[in-house]
Amino acid sequence: MAHIIVVGNEKGGSGKSTTTMHVATALARMGHRVGGLDLDLRQKTFGQYVGNRARFTAESDIQLLSPHYMDLPEITEDNLQHGENLMDQRLSAAVESLEEASDFIIIDCPGSHTRLSQMAHAMANTLITPLNDSFVDFDLLAKVESDGTTSQRAVGLFRDGLERPAIAGSRQG
Ligand SMILES: Nc1ncnc2c1ncn2[C@@H]1O[C@H](COP(=O)(O)OP(=O)(O)OP(=O)(O)O)[C@@H](O)[C@H]1O
Ligand SMILES: [Mg+2]
Repeated sequence: MAHIIVVGNEKGGSGKSTTTMHVATALARMGHRVGGLDLDLRQKTFGQYVGNRARFTAESDIQLLSPHYMDLPEITEDNLQHGENLMDQRLSAAVESLEEASDFIIIDCPGSHTRLSQMAHAMANTLITPLNDSFVDFDLLAKVESDGTTSQRAVGLFRDGLERPAIAGSRQG
């Protein structure tokens, strides 16, 4: 079963696609089978990167280990069962078709809250949240209920590369 890595932060321009490219490529170069999905259906930064990398390797006749990227499959409303959501089905179908041939599936999310992004977060085995080094952005990242029982956890990758403790909003009891 593939390990699903989701790179998300609904704050735009925080470094999600850049992080996705580096993590996906590093895992592929380590010899892992990496499947890739891009849920930013408009920009497709990660999808473009993998396409450019494939073109470059073909043109230069060199071998570079790379992630295997796929677009979300098109599904028509007619193929949905009653109550099924189109975007949920597209994402599930993509994960299903990558799963068998992948050790890791890495998913780049858009810089906004979308149904696809929300569903991907629910599927994540590992969640990476790149974050601008700003308390304003940090404040947007997670909300902890005033009763202290709800927890949200995130791993912060600060863009200046300085080491800081992982951001853990867990306040059980
Ligand atoms: N660690 C970093 N240090 C400096 N600049 C960075 C770093 N990571 C990304 N950037 C730059 O920040 C910009 C936004 O990066 P990127 O496209 O990866 O963000 P994003 O979160 O995917 O954006 P969006 O929300 O639009 O999808 C790009 O110009 C990128 O080159
Ligand atoms: Mg992006």
